[in-house]
Amino acid sequence: MSLLELQNVTKIFSVGGLLRRRHILAVDDISLSIPEDRPVTVALVGESGSGKTTIGRLVLAFLKPTSGKILWQGKDVWKIDGKERQIYRKNAQAVFQDPYESLDPTYATVDTLMEPIKKFKLASSRSEAIKIITDTIESLGLRSDTLDKYPHQLSGGQKQRIMLARAVLLKARLIVADEPVSMIDASLRASILGLMREIKENYGVSFVYITHDISTASILADQIVVVYLGSLMEFGDFDEMVTKPMHPYVKLLMDSVPIPDPKRRWKGDVKIKEDEGEVLPKDLMKFRSRCKFCQRCGEAKEICHEKQPPSVDVGKDHKVLCWLYA
Ligand SMILES: Nc1ncnc2c1ncn2[C@@H]1O[C@H](COP(=O)(O)OP(=O)(O)OP(=O)(O)O)[C@@H](O)[C@H]1O
Ligand SMILES: [Mg+2]
Repeated sequence: MSLLELQNVTKIFSVGGLLRRRHILAVDDISLSIPEDRPVTVALVGESGSGKTTIGRLVLAFLKPTSGKILWQGKDVWKIDGKERQIYRKNAQAVFQDPYESLDPTYATVDTLMEPIKKFKLASSRSEAIKIITDTIESLGLRSDTLDKYPHQLSGGQKQRIMLARAVLLKARLIVADEPVSMIDASLRASILGLMREIKENYGVSFVYITHDISTASILADQIVVVYLGSLMEFGDFDEMVTKPMHPYVKLLMDSVPIPDPKRRWKGDVKIKEDEGEVLPKDLMKFRSRCKFCQRCGEAKEICHEKQPPSVDVGKDHKVLCWLYA
């Protein structure tokens, strides 16, 4: 059984009034799973507007899929209630891009961290709660005097550490971290990503790390999912995919990112056509009749323009949405 499984998940947003209603296919038939038996970090990578945040919000059940299922330990997260739903809510936590928005400005750190302890009855007395909180924040590299500070007295990096501490306190099994370091000083980014890696190893927490920056993912990712216009183009082992990408779009992506570690870098060359006009998300529905990347793809065949590609298993835990491998 998987900890989390997405089964053919699609999310369509309807926007505009009755007369000018249009549909946005934000997430298109995505299937994916995170194992139960070991923690993994999955980097979810794609351009702006490719559906990454929407996938994250679906995973956390902040959004309901238009079709498809999200299973937590085998159970549909939209069908569980009561205690089971509470456990899922506790086990799947979020760390967002903007640390300034995720903390209540009227709460000192100790209040922020006390709240989940009370809600889920994780301690029997206030002194026990304070001990749990202090031990946790210290193990995550924060000093205990942080407890009395309010958000405006903390740096962006400290705030993200507090959000991570909150998830650790709750004994979360999965943390969805949506661009958690993009608003943090570049000098602090590596330490936060390193902390996430430690949390995975020391506390057995899996991560969905959402980013448009593959080079930061190389610090912590075990697996990588590349999405393009809502579709999962390729999923696989991080090292394998950055060194030997298969999907033409993923090759393009790997060609354009500076991965610091040369062993984790792709050395192939990429065939790419001139952009033949933007494929705007609002026009997505009609592109379901072909490969979404076919107009930009230098390796496209006739069939790529005529039919949607299948998801092809090209190895263990490695799949590619491409006619070239079908
Ligand atoms: N609540 C919403 N209502 C309508 N459309 C939405 C909504 N949320 C997202 N979208 C649309 O869905 C598509 C995917 O958006 P999403 O925010 O998931 O992309 P993203 O990959 O996270 O982008 P970014 O890298 O810019 O954060 C976009 O076309 C976006 O405009
Ligand atoms: Mg986003």
